[in-house]
Amino acid sequence: MASTFFVLNGPNLNALGKREPGIYGGQTLADIEALCRAEGERLGFAVDFRQSNHEGDLVDWIHEAGDTAAGIAINAGAYTHTSVALHDAIRAIRIPVVELHLSNVHAREEFRHRSMIAPAVKGVICGFGATSYILALNALSSITT
Ligand code: DQA
Repeated sequence: MASTFFVLNGPNLNALGKREPGIYGGQTLADIEALCRAEGERLGFAVDFRQSNHEGDLVDWIHEAGDTAAGIAINAGAYTHTSVALHDAIRAIRIPVVELHLSNVHAREEFRHRSMIAPAVKGVICGFGATSYILALNALSSITT
């Protein structure tokens, strides 16, 4: 069985497609999931793609991935900028984690410039729209194989 990358999505990402399309693009989260599945197949990894608006779900899934998966690509949405719990959960596992964002958070409001999880992850990708997910999967693949 192929090993698995978790792709975790935080709050409001379920609204992609209709949420601020000028910033986040017109693709829905289902569209992005399909792109990730195809890229995972190409790279030889299964993709377990999830979204929640609840911080604790993301904490639980990070722990679960730590026990079962080869790596995590995470778009933590607004929790990126606030969550000590996500920082601690990432620090508590050993598999590599890549932080990603659709938008270039550094070109936006100042409160988006700080990531609480960046110090705990392997690296950060932002600003490439849905392609940020593809780049994150390729980063995980290159550091795990
Ligand atoms: C985001 C950027 C965050 O600042 C924002 O809160 C999001 C989406 C992105 O993918 O660009 O919800 O993570």
